[in-house]
Amino acid sequence: MPAKWEKNRNFARNYTLYHMEKHFKRTTITSALPYANGPVHIGHLAGVYVPADIYARYLRLKGRECLFIGGSDEHGVPVTIRARKEGITVQEVVDRYHNLIKDSFERFGISFDVYSRTTSKTHHKLASDFFRKLYDDGKFIEQVSEQFYDEQTGHFLTDRNIRGECPRCHAPEAYGDQCEKCGATLSPEELINPYNAETGNPLVKKPTKHWYLPLDKDQQWLEKWILEDHKEWRSNVYGQCKSWLDGGLRPRAVTRDLDWGIPVPIEGAEGKVLYVWFDAPIGYISNTKELCDAHPELGPWEKWWKDPETRLVHFIGKDNIVFHCIVFPAMLKAHGDYILPDNVPSNEFLNLEGNKISTSKNYAVWLNEYLDELPGRQDELRYVLTANAPETKDNDFTWDDFQARCNNELVAVYGNFVNRALQLTQKYYEGKVPECGELNDYDKETLAEFCDVKSRLEQLLEGFKFREAQKEAMNLARIGNKYIADCEPWKVVKTDPERVKTIIYLSLQITANLAIAFEPFLPFSSKRLREMICLTPTLSKGEGESLWELLGRTDILPAGKQLPKPELLFTKIEDEVVAQQKKKLEDTLKANEAAAYKAAPVKPTVSFEDFEKLDIRVGLVKSCEKVKKSKKLLKFILDDGSGQDRTILSGIAQWYEPERLVGKHVLFIANFAPRQMMGEESQGMILSAVNYNGDLSVTTVLDDVKGGSQVG
Ligand code: 2FM
Ligand code: ZN
Repeated sequence: MPAKWEKNRNFARNYTLYHMEKHFKRTTITSALPYANGPVHIGHLAGVYVPADIYARYLRLKGRECLFIGGSDEHGVPVTIRARKEGITVQEVVDRYHNLIKDSFERFGISFDVYSRTTSKTHHKLASDFFRKLYDDGKFIEQVSEQFYDEQTGHFLTDRNIRGECPRCHAPEAYGDQCEKCGATLSPEELINPYNAETGNPLVKKPTKHWYLPLDKDQQWLEKWILEDHKEWRSNVYGQCKSWLDGGLRPRAVTRDLDWGIPVPIEGAEGKVLYVWFDAPIGYISNTKELCDAHPELGPWEKWWKDPETRLVHFIGKDNIVFHCIVFPAMLKAHGDYILPDNVPSNEFLNLEGNKISTSKNYAVWLNEYLDELPGRQDELRYVLTANAPETKDNDFTWDDFQARCNNELVAVYGNFVNRALQLTQKYYEGKVPECGELNDYDKETLAEFCDVKSRLEQLLEGFKFREAQKEAMNLARIGNKYIADCEPWKVVKTDPERVKTIIYLSLQITANLAIAFEPFLPFSSKRLREMICLTPTLSKGEGESLWELLGRTDILPAGKQLPKPELLFTKIEDEVVAQQKKKLEDTLKANEAAAYKAAPVKPTVSFEDFEKLDIRVGLVKSCEKVKKSKKLLKFILDDGSGQDRTILSGIAQWYEPERLVGKHVLFIANFAPRQMMGEESQGMILSAVNYNGDLSVTTVLDDVKGGSQVG
């Protein structure tokens, strides 16, 4: 992005922040609807749900009117593929995963106001009516095109269900939309010898009619709306939109030939359904409607989607940018009446131990498993995912980093400070908040750090800079730790007990600030901490004193308040936990490699005479040692039955300690032309099997046969 633009966009961003509260009365927050084809994993959490939840919690704390909308995306090809893989019906797949996802989100504290599903009646009707209105208003173009068809099953195939040879790298099993080997974006037409990924059947082209949204007609207003009016959007979002727009928008089909989904509600469209990317974002609206219908106090759903005083914010991952910034807004605009998103804070991707997270390859940290295997540690994961959030670039989650951040930051900084403040209160004042005496310069200097913490945090949170914001909160704990360490109340108590009261009083006020500042990020521990310090104001405005409004104040806990006995706020993550989790991932990688293994094709046939030319024999290993200056070679001395030692060098040092091979009967080619290796003559070749992952395994015989015995 050119520097000039970046400057412009920064200005625009601040300008928007400043005016936001004036322009908007309420906020509708949506988070991408996850496909119900598997559990959610840490990539989803870091990319979408944790930031969206922080934002929703923050707005509620501020007392702003908002709704946080979630739900499962239960249509589309991914769920149908999973059903075939597991040998169950698609309905069973979506029921299973919708319930699993919903339950894990709840346990993890993602505070949706509603979590519904796109198979609901409300959604089917709303999405169907939405399509019908656009159809009646003449907003679609109808087009017949040739699509790939499997004559044996009688099905048209979607891009993802078509496989064939990649035209770029010639990998044999590229998908119709992408080659996983070389990463090329493809269309099925480009594949060499396309076939049905499920059945292996060859495909033919057959004409079929579909309805298209003519996005080319939206080019102009989208360019103005995004590139000029939304310069404040994150650069990854803005940049991706710009490159789509620069490439020129083309009509997009919004229907598919599929038997799972919402039927296209017009005559002559039998056997066709709405494209999943047409119905899924409408799911945000349907789920809002479901919520508002059940809770009249929230007002009619239209208030949240059609009132220009409502601000719409979509939290998504980067693979969803085009749909939320270009396609969905075009749909909303075509429909009329609807507001458009004001911001689309999309994150980049999170990798896992240096590898891509993958649902289909089962390579992930699954939320449901995390919650079972590390019970009560929701905030630890929330903390690490935010500290390491892929806000501006792809990031990597590693279990070592998880452990280090938990132990060195949550336990050693935040937990340690709180524990010291509370324990000292117990020790010196039997748990009662002491009176504050006169402040010295150091106290004042420390307190000065707190006076604008509220506005600093607000600015960062409103600018969707959650990572920075959380750092800011942690910084308060660092200040607290330093304050106690510098003031040394355990020493001062002997000389100036009055002074200790002030130190503890202020430490307790810092503790209270921490409970509030961490509330949007770490709701579980903040709640526990609030209980430990009896901090009970209500969480939102209008029902008494607002918790958030207290942030930055240094008189939150009144002197004389009796505090209960404290517990530890965080405990260490032990090495075994990390080792177990790492092993689980390594095992998955190994299993995937093994599953991906295909035996090499058999070489051209050889005659018996040709075979007989090879003299394969058994050799008894008399000695075996590493070859100096070589990482690969082992030197074998074999008893080959000739009465003389035979020396063979073999490149298997990476796989064997030499001692392990002594006394073994190995197979070798006795008439292999001698070769010079590292200054030694190798008189033959030892035979090894090459495993799927390239590991070598020396061949041997079952029984104790004599050295020199022939193999054939
Ligand atoms: O990429 C995905 O997982 C989609 N299911 C996201 C849909 S977002 C919205 F449109 F519902
Ligand atoms: Zn390729």
